Amino acid sequence: MLILGIETSCDETAVALYDSASHQVDQLVHTQVDIHAPYGGVVPELASRDHVTRLAPMIEHFLSERFIKPSELDGIAYTRGPGLIGALMVGACLGKSLAYGWGIPALGVHHIEAHLLAVMLEETQPDFPFVALIVSGGHSLLVHVKGVGEYHLLGETLDDAAGEAFDKTAKLLGLSYPGGPALAALAEQGDPKAYHFTRPMMHHPTCDMSFSGLKTQIAKTYAELPEDSCMADLAASFQAAVVDVLIAKSTRALKQVNSKRLVVAGGVSANQRLRRLSQTTFKKHGIDVVFPKLAYCTDNAAMVAYTGAVRMAAGEFDSDLSIQPKARWPLVDLRKPTS
Ligand SMILES: Nc1ncnc2c1ncn2[C@@H]1O[C@H](COP(=O)(O)OP(=O)(O)OP(=O)(O)O)[C@@H](O)[C@H]1O
Ligand SMILES: [Mg+2]
Repeated sequence: MLILGIETSCDETAVALYDSASHQVDQLVHTQVDIHAPYGGVVPELASRDHVTRLAPMIEHFLSERFIKPSELDGIAYTRGPGLIGALMVGACLGKSLAYGWGIPALGVHHIEAHLLAVMLEETQPDFPFVALIVSGGHSLLVHVKGVGEYHLLGETLDDAAGEAFDKTAKLLGLSYPGGPALAALAEQGDPKAYHFTRPMMHHPTCDMSFSGLKTQIAKTYAELPEDSCMADLAASFQAAVVDVLIAKSTRALKQVNSKRLVVAGGVSANQRLRRLSQTTFKKHGIDVVFPKLAYCTDNAAMVAYTGAVRMAAGEFDSDLSIQPKARWPLVDLRKPTS
């Protein structure tokens, strides 16, 4: 199956091709960072408008550069939700219209399921079941994954998502948008033990997490710091606290379901400290931990094309031409692929 994937849930316009026969994927991502940077965050209306102007030419250019004719495609997978409603609407309208015009099926894909399955784009794929730690800009979830569409929630953040905590802390420290990756880069140069921040809910006997209090602690420490203080140390100490919580909660979740396999996904899975400490900590306990390639951690269309291909191969397609993007859509509402 050759599936065209479209991602427009937030501030990246992305298109991809996934070929299930060869397990090859190819993608093009355009980020809207320059548009939103002056505002210090994503402006939903500007995001939608940019998707509108970019998406159709991007698809045309992407397919023609690869000499792919629409008649060679077996389907179009677009992100149906969760995300910004206007941005989702753009991908859903164009994806379904093209599929209708080209006489091929379309399928609306769940953005977080796509993040979770991004790891399946690797050459060797983890076997089900496993525990997934999904840490992105809008979500922090621990899920027991028995198969595609078989998701049991083990824990989640009670307030900010881990990526959101990175972004908000970066803003607080005056780092330019997008803050999360900038904060992580700064943290790599600092001493993670310079300041001790509490590890919120780390010893709480559940797999739930909380990150908003941490942000307040940083704000207080930052306000009291002498001017010549090392910001990298502050960033590193913040990052260490978040990573410790993520590793402790993942360990608890693995124990709870007696699993020895962990998949980490979403934008925060690009974090180098999380990657390093996961490898050493989990290896010691005989746990296999898998991360997606860096290009598939943050928003991309490769994961959307892959997820669409898996569900379409099982006979799942949009049943009519209605456009129904979903701003909110819990992952656990998904079911096994059905025709
Ligand atoms: N190296 C990094 N370290 C920590 N956080 C990072 C890093 N790189 C990206 N992030 C964070 O990842 C988030 C972006 O990831 P992603 O694209 O998966 O989220 P989103 O699409 O905005 O949210 P969602 O997927 O929940 O809808 C941002 O919050 C960003 O700060
Ligand atoms: Mg995302």
